[in-house]
Amino acid sequence: MTAQREQFGTRLGFILAAAGSAVGIGNLVGFPVNAAKNGGGAFLLLYAVFVLLICIPVMMAELSAGRNSRRNPLGAYQHFAPGSKFWPIGGWLSLITPYMIAVFYAVITLWVMGYLVAITSGDLEALTKPDYFGTFINSSNIFIYLAVITVLVGVILHFGVKEGIERGAKIMMPSLFVMLLGLVVFVLTRDNAMAGVQYYLIPDVSKIDVHVVNGAMSQAFFSLSLGMGILITYGSYMDREASIPNSAKMVALADTGVAFTAGLMVLPAIFSFNPGIDPAELSNSSVSLIFTFLPKIFLAMQVSVGYWGASIVASIFFLLVFFAALTSLVSIIEVPVSGVMDQKCYSRNKALLIVGSTMVVIALACAVSFGMVESLTNFTQYGGANKSLFDLVIDVFYDTILPLNGFMICLLVIYRWKKHNFDEELEQGDPSYKGSLLERYTNFALGTFIPVILLFVFINTVLNKFFSTSLI
Ligand code: PFF
Repeated sequence: MTAQREQFGTRLGFILAAAGSAVGIGNLVGFPVNAAKNGGGAFLLLYAVFVLLICIPVMMAELSAGRNSRRNPLGAYQHFAPGSKFWPIGGWLSLITPYMIAVFYAVITLWVMGYLVAITSGDLEALTKPDYFGTFINSSNIFIYLAVITVLVGVILHFGVKEGIERGAKIMMPSLFVMLLGLVVFVLTRDNAMAGVQYYLIPDVSKIDVHVVNGAMSQAFFSLSLGMGILITYGSYMDREASIPNSAKMVALADTGVAFTAGLMVLPAIFSFNPGIDPAELSNSSVSLIFTFLPKIFLAMQVSVGYWGASIVASIFFLLVFFAALTSLVSIIEVPVSGVMDQKCYSRNKALLIVGSTMVVIALACAVSFGMVESLTNFTQYGGANKSLFDLVIDVFYDTILPLNGFMICLLVIYRWKKHNFDEELEQGDPSYKGSLLERYTNFALGTFIPVILLFVFINTVLNKFFSTSLI
């Protein structure tokens, strides 16, 4: 099995695919707005510190566990801890988590597609009506968009790692960069744009409290696609001559760079076209920002570029979000697909069919949990509120479990696989890593404070979300 495992064709291809996974919906709107609201430059600095000191080491752990074992996450855990009953729990979590994230991410991606189609058909103004979003997500059109997305992702994954995932990323990622830069230039040349840049970048240390620190940490972690089994899986397709430390740095740089650059578009757009706004009032949720707030900003651009000009800018933005979402979706569905392929020795197509069809059923259940089906809409209750199936999936698998998965991978790599084996894997393709400061730091941090912090964030989030209390 090892000899025939698929591989990325080029190192750049790997970096684009991993960056494609990392750059998602959160980077484009959620990150800039949260940064601006939570201390501007001070938040950005905090975020950068978390990326450097915590996320890059965890990313290296995931990539090397994947590359060394040449397996999906469950297979990797079994490979390093043969016969153990405890360790495969980490592997199962790293398969179930991406499966469930993919389900709700597919729903958000289909909404993005619906908005893109509406804008390109001239309906930008309709999107700004207060009840548009609620009506749209409960309309039968969502089934068509889900079908289209299933086919798109299915075709990319059918073609495999090199011809599918890598080729898709090589087309979509550079287009995404170009569209993003184009929008930044357009927005920065509008009146009053600099007020937005200032609001985004000027540090306000007084806003930094323990919740902001916790939020920045969680955001950095999920933004880099950690704890989702993705980097273990992509690591298993990596060339042994490639440098894992350098690849991890490049992916982190691309992800953070896109998130930062997106802020140079979103905040100035808000200030320029909605000068009276108090950004502190903006929602924390990427979903409400993208679907209810930003269409209004785009429509307001008609004073400067006319209705069609505004519609073109809005379509470019939604296409950008769509590409970002699609490359993330591809990466996350590949995890259970590779799990079924490895564990069951099934062909790619058979695994894809099993994973894809079951996933579509659960995605449908989530998609109709906004009012169409009452039992799924008021699915459960916790934290003092009624929750839909969609809310439950997000709360458990997106907002809560990732740090636990990160905690498990740190322990697996350092205490089960052992530091010297981990080091050897990282030195493969990067002899300069041996004895470097990064090596010493990574070993120390992954064996001590990183798992402690991740466990703390996990426990705190569980208390917060499900029991309305917290450790801090
Ligand atoms: N970094 C991605 C994001 O910010 O959206 C994380 C991610 C989410 C990856 C969902 C993959 C995915 F399906």
